[in-house]
Amino acid sequence: MTWSPTSWKTRAASQQAEYADPVALDRVVEQIGRLPPLVTSWEVEQLRTELARAARGEAFVLQGGDCAESFDDCRSEPIAAKLKILLQMSLVLVHGTRKPVVRIGRIAGQYAKPRSADTETKAGVTLPAYRGDIINRDGFTAEERAHDPVLMLRAYERAGLTLNFIRALTDGGFADLHHPEYWDVSFAKDSPRAAGYERIVSSIRESLDFVSAITGIEAEALRRVDVYTSHEALALPYEQAQTRQVPRRTGHYNLSTHFPWIGMRTAQLDGAHVEFHRGINNPLGIKVGPAMTREWLIGLLEALDADRAPGRITLIARMGADNVATKLPPLVEAVRSAGRTVLWMCDPMHGNTETLPQGIKTRRFDKIVEELEQSFTLHTQLGSRLGGVHIELTGEDVTECIGGARGLAEVDLERAYKSRVDPRLNYEQALEVAMRIADHVRGTR
Ligand code: PEP
Ligand code: CO
Repeated sequence: MTWSPTSWKTRAASQQAEYADPVALDRVVEQIGRLPPLVTSWEVEQLRTELARAARGEAFVLQGGDCAESFDDCRSEPIAAKLKILLQMSLVLVHGTRKPVVRIGRIAGQYAKPRSADTETKAGVTLPAYRGDIINRDGFTAEERAHDPVLMLRAYERAGLTLNFIRALTDGGFADLHHPEYWDVSFAKDSPRAAGYERIVSSIRESLDFVSAITGIEAEALRRVDVYTSHEALALPYEQAQTRQVPRRTGHYNLSTHFPWIGMRTAQLDGAHVEFHRGINNPLGIKVGPAMTREWLIGLLEALDADRAPGRITLIARMGADNVATKLPPLVEAVRSAGRTVLWMCDPMHGNTETLPQGIKTRRFDKIVEELEQSFTLHTQLGSRLGGVHIELTGEDVTECIGGARGLAEVDLERAYKSRVDPRLNYEQALEVAMRIADHVRGTR
């Protein structure tokens, strides 16, 4: 069948909104389609080149951000805080892996969530589940839970505003290592890990000063960094709306983000999400969970990467610390036997979610680190390579995950639990994960 930006409509699409008014939906899709793109094709191609480098072992990828962005958080502090933790983690990873780090935010479009149940019941009232700010609203009334296509337009605008701010910050010296205020560990100062981090920053700063002293060159490239965007390409009318051809290039690009990924619940071989993604030129992420089989995975690679393009596919494994040793190796072997090169990443979050007796969703820091460390080791044993990590985090001082150097306990969770969906690592825990990865990589080099 020939592909087009709308050919996904001929397939079964799971996890989609049901809009009461199809005319209103068409109007919104058409409107978004007329607005300028959020990202450009050359940035998308640049990221694909960098992911290809990571797949060859020449770079490491850090992908991180909220489980779900909310429209309310489209404010300067949360965006700047998220950018800051991503930059700080990447610095620690550069130091630990001795490789360039490619930074990708779950940002500027991460507004749609797959849900395991279509409805939610509270005190005898059943309403549609909250599916992310791009689909409906979080409040528990019929009006707020109705699927509203105009929210896609609001999402496009919020994504544009977010990206505008990120671009300004990363271009305007926010990333400059000579500005210590951007690199200091603010409220984490009394964290048991703060001294280690400070050592890394000053060692890098000294190396930079040394290089500019002997070369006489103030490395301009070090004053700015690239931060790419990504989101789960779940709400297909939104993804379709920004998918277009650009002058002097062949094929279509989804210009709502650099790096869309297919979530675990929508990776059916004959489904609408696979159909949509096979036709766009962007590099693609595919979440790979414990239910993935070799045949299914190879089918996905054949459908989505018929040309075997370097950098095209990133497999983001999210097995859980207890499953990774049995579930990951057969898939790594299957990809290798098919003669394919992919970038393997580890998402140590989504296989380690648990619900406490009082109903709170959390994740244990130790399980997260355990899945990461096991994944590095397993890949090495298999003659493969773990080329990146995918983390749910926030730059704020939330209490959603248990553990870490400060020893957050179950009783602490209620203090600052803000996530509407999955529990995120807070600022300190995220930095600590980066340091644990760096320690692990250094220790095994
Ligand atoms: C997510 O990344 O937020 C998510 C829903 O992941 P998965 O599809 O792996 O469950
Ligand atoms: Co999540």
